[in-house]
Amino acid sequence: MNFSASNDYCGDGRFVQHSVIMQHIDKLELRPEDTVLDVGCGTGEETKSMAGKVKSVTGVDASEEMVAVAVKTNSAPNVAYSQCDARAVGDNPDWREGFDKAVCFFVLHWFPEQTQALRSISACLKLGGQTLFIFENHDDLFILTQATSFLKSHEKWGAFVQDYKSSLHFWDLSVQETQKVFKACGWAEAKCEVRRHELVLSEIQLKSGMSFPESKDV
Ligand SMILES: C[S@@+](CC[C@H](N)C(=O)[O-])C[C@H]1O[C@@H](n2cnc3c(N)ncnc32)[C@H](O)[C@@H]1O
Repeated sequence: MNFSASNDYCGDGRFVQHSVIMQHIDKLELRPEDTVLDVGCGTGEETKSMAGKVKSVTGVDASEEMVAVAVKTNSAPNVAYSQCDARAVGDNPDWREGFDKAVCFFVLHWFPEQTQALRSISACLKLGGQTLFIFENHDDLFILTQATSFLKSHEKWGAFVQDYKSSLHFWDLSVQETQKVFKACGWAEAKCEVRRHELVLSEIQLKSGMSFPESKDV
């Protein structure tokens, strides 16, 4: 991920993520007494917005830059941010069995040890706790696969990208396989669905989302 673009990960720069999260966030029954863990919170926009409905939210992210932007732009009295890897949140004794809810949006495809992260997040839940995960499969970002194939076969530019290998680790298990994985990682029940989100993006939203702001070198 281009962490130098952390400051751009807001507004149009995360239009897709925000829209999809808004379509699903009510699946989690947030209560005023809840403590919430937001794993891979990024710049903290939903971290802060959830904080308006619950007792407290702890946002964690592996990126120091993302945490710094979150602290600067999305702080609130009942929000705390920490730098921590999703695979290690369960190692923190203050967080183990410490949360009523956990969310993890658009994070799991950034590393291969996804079940390690799931076990770690599940260890942070109190008995009866709930989580909402949103993650992507290949179909979601098929456009990236298409763009890579196009470039690799390009007469002029193909030679420069022949060795390019995506570092993304999409979740390509079926619904049934996904439910099995979640149960093996500590959840008593796992509801799971595959959704295709057809979002119409303006040119500026598309460029911002791909981290190509017109006025900056990235
Ligand atoms: C696409 S952003 C999503 C941020 C936020 N959840 C949202 O929906 O806008 C992915 C985030 O995952 C974080 N991330 C990547 N690998 C991580 C890891 N191993 N542990 C914690 N956070 C990680 C990145 O730093 C980045 O902030």
